[in-house]
Amino acid sequence: MKKTIFSGMQPTGVAHIGNYFGAIKNWVSLQDEYNCLYSIVDLHAITIRQNPEELYQNTLNALALYMACGLDPDKNTIYIQSHYHGHAELCWLLSCFTYMGELGRMTQYKDKSAKNADNINLGLFAYPTLQTADILLFGTHLVPVGDDQKQHLELARDIAIRFNNIYGDVFTVPEVFTPKTGARIKSLSDPTKKMSKSDGEANYVGILDPADVVMKKFKRAVTDSDTEIRYDPENKAGISGLLEIYAAACNVDIAAAQREFEGKQYGHLKTTVAQAVIDNVTTPIQTKYNHLIKNPDHLANIAKSSAEKAASIGNPVLEKTKKAVGLVL
Ligand code: TYM
Repeated sequence: MKKTIFSGMQPTGVAHIGNYFGAIKNWVSLQDEYNCLYSIVDLHAITIRQNPEELYQNTLNALALYMACGLDPDKNTIYIQSHYHGHAELCWLLSCFTYMGELGRMTQYKDKSAKNADNINLGLFAYPTLQTADILLFGTHLVPVGDDQKQHLELARDIAIRFNNIYGDVFTVPEVFTPKTGARIKSLSDPTKKMSKSDGEANYVGILDPADVVMKKFKRAVTDSDTEIRYDPENKAGISGLLEIYAAACNVDIAAAQREFEGKQYGHLKTTVAQAVIDNVTTPIQTKYNHLIKNPDHLANIAKSSAEKAASIGNPVLEKTKKAVGLVL
């Protein structure tokens, strides 16, 4: 029996190369070894105000993007979270096993509530419980994510263990998977921070950015006033960030990337990294994406049948959970 993977991405704004190297690329490499469910987590997205038309379009586009990145819909269950009610239902059950103190300590909650001070809503606070439900719903063994999701994953494990300690072996306790290279891709405009959708155009490279835009963004990447190309995240955050992107784009380790640029100038590093991203990541993905997006009916059919498949895996776990707490089925 293959083990199960669950992971997801929010359909907010554009997906960037941080999402790709930290998550999607690894989803693709794990798709043969595991039973995989990859969700477009629209219920998570609405914890921040979204423009409805944009959310609608981004959600449909995300399906094409997942496939363009190499996820095969015949091997994986690729679906839209809100198409399966099990997520919201299990979230409620698990919210009765999540402590307010735990949620209040979540870094992402603190960051997001600081950025959206006028809309600190219950959904934003409970977000990690919904994420826990996503994962536990399918008996998930492994969750491939970027570094920034580790705290949420620890909470998911704690909730699963807590529930199991009371009711017996209901949930599989999930393990986290983060890649050796690319788990925390840095912002190009402030390399002490992670690349993020919400920190402005100049900080990220979108997977769908045209080649000239990708080149321009890398050329403007913040580095330092030194001249040596060396991996040293403490003292040379910008250069280290670029070396990490290069290593991830070319599937080499950081030491090999550093050797390649020994004695070279910063300008050369920037254009070479940009070209590697264009040739190995954005151009091939965009070619497939532009083809897939022309056939929305096909995408809608995949979304529908995948949601049914997700429900067939999740429903038995949902029932088991309800039964455990004493709900009448
Ligand atoms: P989201 O939509 O913010 O990001 C999707 C994935 O991309 C990773 N990521 C990064 N990796 C490396 N460097 C970066 N700069 C970078 N930025 C983002 C994220 O770690 C993530 O893996 N809460 C999740 C979505 C989610 C989920 C789940 C994930 C909902 N339910 C269940 C796993 C399991 C999120 O907001 O990801």
